[in-house]
Amino acid sequence: MNADILVELTYLLSAILFVVGLKRLQSPATARGGNALASFAMLLAIIATLVDTDILGWTGILGGVALGGIIGGIAARKVEMTSMPEMVGIFNAFGGGASALVAVAEFLNSPTVGMSTAGVSMLLGTVIGGLTFTGSFVAFAKLKGLITGNPITFPGQNATNGVLVLGTLALGAMTLGVFGGQDPATLFYIFCGLSLLLGVLMVIPIGGADMPVVISLLNSYSGLAASAAGFVIGNMVLIISGALVGASGLILTQLMCKGMNRSLANVVFGGFGGTAGVDRAQIGKRPVMRADAEAVAAELGYVNSVVVVPGYGLAVAQAQHELRKVGDLLEERGVDVKYAIHPVAGRMPGHMNVLLAEADVSYEKLYDLDEINDDFAKTDAVLIVGANDVVNPAARDPQSVIAGMPILDVDKARRVIVMKRSLSPGFAGIDNDLFYSDKTLMFFGDAKNSMSDLVREVRELA
Ligand code: TAP
Repeated sequence: MNADILVELTYLLSAILFVVGLKRLQSPATARGGNALASFAMLLAIIATLVDTDILGWTGILGGVALGGIIGGIAARKVEMTSMPEMVGIFNAFGGGASALVAVAEFLNSPTVGMSTAGVSMLLGTVIGGLTFTGSFVAFAKLKGLITGNPITFPGQNATNGVLVLGTLALGAMTLGVFGGQDPATLFYIFCGLSLLLGVLMVIPIGGADMPVVISLLNSYSGLAASAAGFVIGNMVLIISGALVGASGLILTQLMCKGMNRSLANVVFGGFGGTAGVDRAQIGKRPVMRADAEAVAAELGYVNSVVVVPGYGLAVAQAQHELRKVGDLLEERGVDVKYAIHPVAGRMPGHMNVLLAEADVSYEKLYDLDEINDDFAKTDAVLIVGANDVVNPAARDPQSVIAGMPILDVDKARRVIVMKRSLSPGFAGIDNDLFYSDKTLMFFGDAKNSMSDLVREVRELA
């Protein structure tokens, strides 16, 4: 078979495997396999490209696979589940940067390309890749706390950004010679600088609480940049994989916005997500009812129904295995145990599903917000493990920072038990009236230690 046809067939196979891999990400049961399939497809595509273009010999390819595999393996093992958004942020930055570099190199090879599909693709790859590169680093720095998580704003910011976008577009047109014969290379360097600046200016006004949404949006941009780079070098599989990343990133962004009842425009232009207007000195100053492991075991062990609400603190404490043991012990006692999963509990989509799957909690016991909210009124006890914003009744108050965010209606249950270390606020940085309610018991401590104590106490119940 002709080598060109073999390469095209390999690209086709890769594209099919990408789609099947993505499809398998739909359910936690098949997600791991889907991920492996899509990674394998990417490996196939890269090897086909390197062999086809004669860029590297087999020794170089195998050396690269080994080196990349080792770095990737170590990074994946070391990263905390709770730091995933940061890691994805770094991936996006490198992905966007790589696509921009391909586009830049191609433009500098043929600066007089002019107004053509190739020219437009080069500039699109440069601008989208460039702003993804710097924007992702700013998002990373905000999440890591290297710069303030509060929105960084100045008067006329949206107008300035608007002018900058229009200016970049005009400069792009000039670079492609639309307005006459200026030196395209010089114009292109200014265009590159503006693209990098755009990324910074677009992300600094967005608050830390919205960063996971921004990371997902930038993920979509990195896909679009890769697609543009694919057009530049005429590589079909890069166009397809970039389009898939672009579309899936956008869908994920929309799902997150829906989970917080916010529009994308509100996230991007709202300057929301900081806690500038909240009086933090007042948080956690009211009296609460405390309970120890023995009392909580008695509250949970003699009732008919318990709903567990996992949140970010469960992930921090890695208490999922102990939680499963408590669930099993309660079920052995005849208690009906369910798990209520809020769409944005934790710090990334599906965070809680992954944790609970890791601890072998059956998927059938996991209920989405819409499926379980009506059940709380008939529930004897709710056990909240390291969750805060997703059960905060303040979301029902139109004046609140989290106004309109869908919440789990746990305050309708007969008894509420909250497991966390202190009265500190959650991600949104605001107090939670639920903690001070006369039906709520606060079980203070690290979720893993508290859960181990609870396992022991439930075992000792008569
Ligand atoms: P949060 O509101 O962030 O609350 C987590 C709570 O866990 C904290 O109040 C903290 O209280 C507690 N905690 C931390 N470490 C703990 C430990 N070792 N043991 C026990 N408790 C611990 O979490 P949530 O309710 O899951 O809400 C998620 C938030 O993230 C929402 O605001 C959501 O909008 C935002 N967000 C999520 C996503 C996705 S896709 N998941 C995307 C964007 C934004 P203490 O410090 O007192 O222990």
